[in-house]
Amino acid sequence: MSKTNIVLIGFMGAGKSVVGRALARRLRKRFVDTDSEIEAMAGLAVPEIFSRHGEPYFRQLEKQVVRRVAAGEHQVIATGGGTVVDEENARLLQATGVIVWLMASAEAVYRRVGQATNRPLLSGPGEADPRQRIQELLARRETVYRQRAGFSLNTDGLTPWQVVREIEARLSYEL
Ligand code: S3P
Repeated sequence: MSKTNIVLIGFMGAGKSVVGRALARRLRKRFVDTDSEIEAMAGLAVPEIFSRHGEPYFRQLEKQVVRRVAAGEHQVIATGGGTVVDEENARLLQATGVIVWLMASAEAVYRRVGQATNRPLLSGPGEADPRQRIQELLARRETVYRQRAGFSLNTDGLTPWQVVREIEARLSYEL
């Protein structure tokens, strides 16, 4: 299979969905958001999937979605922040495209999603103060993102459109 997909990975609030949609339009590729696919499959929003069925169930649906999406071509795929923690998900996505890590600092993430109620891993019952939770989880995840990514881009201080232009510039070297 040729590597025609562009896969955006990174932490919650890094801008994967907003950037992905704009990048897809610009490159005339199909935009796919794995969280939206999971929601459509479950008939529930992500926080409800977590609260009614738990995270393991969400991860099962996520794996099914990744298997399906990875079979498609010419797509920009926005993943969830935890998608590529799973080895099989990472392998499948790497086989179909370039993996781009949208990096964001803990401060930027907090500003964007610290108060959000639709991020169960940050605001669920028993979760610590979101600022601390973001720092801890981000530190753990960064190691994984670094391993999975073909290249990374620091998004702090950039508008989504600037991030799109940066990705395009980098892709012209990679592809
Ligand atoms: C998650 C990130 C979320 C969503 C779910 C779990 C994570 O996606 O998949 O809440 O494990 O980091 P976003 O990165 O789009 O917020």
